[in-house]
Amino acid sequence: MTWTGINQLSVEDVPEPQLLNDHDVILKVTRTTTCGSDLHLLSGYIPFMRAGDVIGHEFMGEVVEVGKGVRDRRVGDRVVVASFVSCGACWYCHHELYSLCDNSNPNPGITEGLWGQAIGGCLGYSHAVGGYAGSHAEYMRVPFADVGSFVVPDGVPDDRALFASDAASTAFTGVDLAGVQPGDTVAVWGAGAVGQMAARLSSIVGAERVFVVDRFPERLAQARTHAGAETIDYTTTDVAAELREHTGGRGPDVCIEAVGMEAHSPGPQGAYDAVKQQLRLQTDRPSAVREAIMACRKGGSVFTLGVFAAMVDKFPLGAVMNKGLTLRGAQVHGPRYIPRLLELMDRGELVTEHLATHVLPLEEAPRGYELFKEKADGCVRAVFTPHG
Ligand SMILES: NC(=O)c1ccc[n+]([C@@H]2O[C@H](COP(=O)([O-])OP(=O)(O)OC[C@H]3O[C@@H](n4cnc5c(N)ncnc54)[C@H](O)[C@@H]3O)[C@@H](O)[C@H]2O)c1
Ligand SMILES: [Zn+2]
Ligand SMILES: [Zn+2]
Repeated sequence: MTWTGINQLSVEDVPEPQLLNDHDVILKVTRTTTCGSDLHLLSGYIPFMRAGDVIGHEFMGEVVEVGKGVRDRRVGDRVVVASFVSCGACWYCHHELYSLCDNSNPNPGITEGLWGQAIGGCLGYSHAVGGYAGSHAEYMRVPFADVGSFVVPDGVPDDRALFASDAASTAFTGVDLAGVQPGDTVAVWGAGAVGQMAARLSSIVGAERVFVVDRFPERLAQARTHAGAETIDYTTTDVAAELREHTGGRGPDVCIEAVGMEAHSPGPQGAYDAVKQQLRLQTDRPSAVREAIMACRKGGSVFTLGVFAAMVDKFPLGAVMNKGLTLRGAQVHGPRYIPRLLELMDRGELVTEHLATHVLPLEEAPRGYELFKEKADGCVRAVFTPHG
């Protein structure tokens, strides 16, 4: 399936991918799913897309061809693949900062000006992060396959393994690097797949109480049922005040933001952000990050997993400084967490099948995106099966 323009997707025939490099494998894609990051491409807030780009970066499949430099993969392997591409050999890869790989983004110049340095490449995403063809396709090329692909244990079903690719590994990146400790209270903004996984993984590493903030009842219900979280509908309450009330007046130890650049905000601040974003006077609508910073306890940690492009306005830097907060963010370091996720999935401790609310053939991907974008019919993730 290709991106053909803002809010335009189409399913067309494209040439079959070929091995281009000795470290590639070709994968027969068995499952591929929508991600909140794709919505930012659809709405045109992440630039450097070209008509005809194949999108999709959260997927699994079967290895059907192996480059001659590949050591560990064999034809027939059932694998899940990290969304970011990592060479495994540079300084960043050696430090397990895989999405910061220095060798996997062939177009570093695009983001060097914006961020000071370029990050690694991402499959099926903007040309600013490499312009690789994505997974909403029957077959796909996986570069550096020894680093980025992982054999799925036989006992782990497809709709579980699939989410180790991006949603769960993103969540684990946040939970780990935000420093969630046993006994902590964690609050998560966003009850999509990323937020729900962040809530569940916070409990797995020992958080005592976990709150999830969103407005969609079906998603909040999933967070209660599958992550054991307490939930808050941000449209009906003052979130920071409610979190303080539940934490003896202090606020959560760790606040994880899993909403990103298109945050919804019902008040005047939301209208202000929307106008400024439309006029390109700011690139992102950061209302959930602002709220997380204000809600976090003094000396706590705020982590943004939600994707942001560049510049935001009305950012409470004074609160970050004066409250002694640690503010971090990251793109997913997949290979650092996927093996541990597959173990948790194999033991039945991490279950994700409920996220796959809509399973559709690839021909129906545009409809799947429509449901996912509008959060219609309880859609949390639309999963496509290119081979039926
Ligand atoms: N860091 C990474 O490597 C990485 C990887 C995957 C996804 N992401 C990003 O994570 C974010 C979430 O992804 P997803 O797939 O779960 O998306 P999603 O669209 O399914 O979920 C986002 C959720 O945020 C909620 N939301 C909107 N405004 C809110 C607000 N003000 N307060 C609380 N909740 C609010 C929405 O109702 C929705 O349920 C996106 O920005 C995506 O780009 C980042
Ligand atoms: Zn993603
Ligand atoms: Zn590298």
